[in-house]
Formats: sequence, structure tokens, C-alpha cells
Amino acid sequence: MEIIILRSAESVAAMAGELVAELLRVQPAAVLGLATGSTQLSLYRNLVEKYRDGGISFRGTTSFNLDEYLGVASENPQSYRTYMNREFFGCIDIDKRNTFLPCCGEDENPRLVGPRYEQKIREAGGIDLQLMGIGYNGHIGFNEPSSSLRSRTRVKTLTKQTLKDNSRLFAKNEFQPKLAITMGIATIMDARRILLLATGTNKAEAVRKTVEGPVSAMCPASVLQMHERVTVLLDEAAAAELSNRDYYDWTHLQNEALKDRFSDK
Ligand code: F6R
Repeated sequence: MEIIILRSAESVAAMAGELVAELLRVQPAAVLGLATGSTQLSLYRNLVEKYRDGGISFRGTTSFNLDEYLGVASENPQSYRTYMNREFFGCIDIDKRNTFLPCCGEDENPRLVGPRYEQKIREAGGIDLQLMGIGYNGHIGFNEPSSSLRSRTRVKTLTKQTLKDNSRLFAKNEFQPKLAITMGIATIMDARRILLLATGTNKAEAVRKTVEGPVSAMCPASVLQMHERVTVLLDEAAAAELSNRDYYDWTHLQNEALKDRFSDK
């Protein structure tokens, strides 16, 4: 794992934006794995700015989101499809027909959505770069603690903790979904590269367990220790509980000289 600790949440978004831009320069038709949530917002703003400045184009890219609520129509303002259209797809030149979320239509069997989504990812050639955040409880996508480390895209029940964490985004009497369809942990692990972003004090414990704890289904993100190419971008607050901090900073200094991180040359 490459652990990079930066001064602020803005610097995390800026560096993540640089890494995505680097990838698109080398591979304009990259397949991107995307996430929603508050942490990703500044990254999307950064990428939209880069696109508007003419620095990057998403025309050739295809995207697959990690998850979508079940029981919420795509047009619903609370759906992740709406979030993605509003915050990202609607602001860049990506062909929306090449943007996918694991949505379940009203008349569809939710159990069939997962295998179909996996098939689509395979047909696209697999995910080149998966962007993601992390839950306070260590979830990635909506793979909650105790999720099988070999899971594939499927329906998951959200924990009470996740519902509480996300309740801030729902009005008092608004329907808040308790189920979601999420890429599985094995699906995420198939991505060629992974970029995990975490900011803020309330992520510090999950980050410590992910980076320095044992690999355990009780902290799903810890499985990333088994992936060959993961970069973890943290602000100071999210890194506060790491005990091996000196080494991460030292390694980052040495690696700064390395250019073209996404070129395999
Ligand atoms: C969302 C997702 C979740 C979030 C995580 C962090 O698509 O996959 O795993 O990344 O819950 O959310 P924020 O950034 O809102 O703290």
C-alpha cells in the first residue's frame, strides 16, 4: 500500500485529481470505478475544473459506480445516479451511455442485477482505476463489516450505523433506503489500481484498521492490504491514529521523484 498524508482535504482532492488526469493522459479510454459520498465531492469538482480548463477529457472513458440504493428510482433526487449526474457526469464530456450504476428497475429481480453488472464490467475490459471512500466502520462500497471478502456485486443490508451516518442527507420524514446493490469486495479487488480517499478525524480509526490492522471482514477495507496497487490519500486528521507515520512520509518523499505513476513503461 502506498500511504500519502497531505496537509488538508483540499490537497487530497488535488492530488487525486492529478492522478486521475495522469491516467487519462496515458489511457484516454480508461475504465473508471467511481464512488459517491461527501469525500468524493471535492475530487469531482477538481476534475470538472480540469475538464473546463481543457486539461482532460472523459470522452473515451467508461465508468462503473460502486453502489446504488435499492428501492429508489434513478430519477429520485436521493439516488446515486442523480448524485453522479449532478456532481460529475452532467459537468464533463463523458458519454452518459457509458456510465453505469448497479440500478434495479421497479420490475426487475434485484438478485439478477449483480451478475449482470459483473458481466458488463468484464465486457468493458475490467476497471483500470477504482476511486473510493471509506465508511466510519471500514466499509468500502456498501460492503459492511462481516461482508465476505470474496463477495461479488449483490444486495446488501446497510448497518444501523451507516443509516445513522447518512441520515444527515435525508429530510425528517423522507424514505431512507436500508438496502443497496454494491460491487462486492472481490469485484473491487479486481480493479487494476485503487485510489482510496479519506479525510477528517472521524475516519481515523477506520484508516488505522485498514492500513495497520489485521485483514478482517470486520473491517472490509483492510482487504486492500492484499491488493498490488493501492494508493491511500489521507489528510492529517484521517492519518492521526497511524503508528507507522514516519515511514509513510519518508516513502512519499522518496517516491515524489517518480513520475508517470500510471504508465507501465
Ligand atoms: C459511496 C460508497 C461509500 C462511501 C463511504 C464514505 O458510493 O461507496 O463507501 O465512500 O460511505 O462516504 P463519505 O465520503 O460520505 O464519508
